[in-house]
Amino acid sequence: MKTTQQTALITGASNGIGYELAKIFAKNGYNLVLVARNTDRLNEIATDLRNQYNLEHVVVIGKDLTQPNAAQEVYNEVQGFGVDVNVLVNDAGMGEYGVFATETDLDKELAIIQLNVVSLVHLTKLFLKDMVLSNEGKILNLASIVSIMPNPYMAVYGATKAFVLSFTEALRNECKETNVTITALLPGATNTDFFHKAGAEGTRAHKQAQSADPAKVAQDGFDALMKGKDKVVSGLMNKSQAAASNVLPDTFLSQLMRKLMERPSEDEHAENHVPSTASTLVSLAVIAGAIFWGYKKYSKRALPI
Ligand SMILES: NC(=O)c1ccc[n+]([C@@H]2O[C@H](COP(=O)([O-])OP(=O)(O)OC[C@H]3O[C@@H](n4cnc5c(N)ncnc54)[C@H](OP(=O)(O)O)[C@@H]3O)[C@@H](O)[C@H]2O)c1
Repeated sequence: MKTTQQTALITGASNGIGYELAKIFAKNGYNLVLVARNTDRLNEIATDLRNQYNLEHVVVIGKDLTQPNAAQEVYNEVQGFGVDVNVLVNDAGMGEYGVFATETDLDKELAIIQLNVVSLVHLTKLFLKDMVLSNEGKILNLASIVSIMPNPYMAVYGATKAFVLSFTEALRNECKETNVTITALLPGATNTDFFHKAGAEGTRAHKQAQSADPAKVAQDGFDALMKGKDKVVSGLMNKSQAAASNVLPDTFLSQLMRKLMERPSEDEHAENHVPSTASTLVSLAVIAGAIFWGYKKYSKRALPI
């Protein structure tokens, strides 16, 4: 049994990638502070992990991070427990599917910005300050493959994830003289409740998500965090798409993402169908990405971009 005297605070620990991260931290001997809205579920997880890994402290904080004071309240509760947070994982997040101009709900989108951006910034401000003062700590921020590509039909969500990546990279640079590291995890579509909650069921991206295991995504994030890496794109196909985003024009990438976010036609469901525009675009992006990736890896010459 591994034990560390370290504590990881994980938002969004009740489900999906955040829950998988909680299991990995527990397995590695971390005490835990688990944050989400569903307190019953968090308490179940806390009991399981405490017993399975013989952890000294597993604390649950039920909080709705779309509320303006929520981040400060989480910080105050942690102070009240007398816990030092060594690792902060900003995982909690949600999306909203539809055409921005005519379909999506503005209140939900403003709540998404509050959760994915404002609370993440607020929590980072409070905990990073302490980490820099003690010259020790790690932060993992949940970005996304859409941090580096426009995301039609989830325009607000995509923009929040672009913010998370930019914010992470800037803070990382500011902290480079310290022992504090900040890492961004960029998953592609992953098999969690995310698509259902966003109203994006049945889209091509949702179908793609079925083959991406959240446990694998979480492990990639944990490994990158422990190595102090700047960012990690989870999954080979996503790595190729990410590499392609360096060389392909934004209009192409927007169209690619739009196709992935659409629901396939009846014909496309039929067997032996002719390759769709979406699969052609994805194939082109993957090939371009693979070529660029190989070039970057093996060429000794400076890149032209
Ligand atoms: N799944 C994907 O395809 C994918 C791809 C790239 C990035 N991501 C990112 O990965 C992160 C985790 O998503 P997931 O796929 O694991 O989704 P998920 O299964 O829906 O889990 C989301 C987590 O966030 C918590 N959460 C949601 N709203 C909250 C709120 N208002 N206050 C506090 N906690 C809240 C949920 O807990 P409660 O409901 O109990 O509050 C849950 O624990 C998100 O930031 C997401 O943007 C996901």
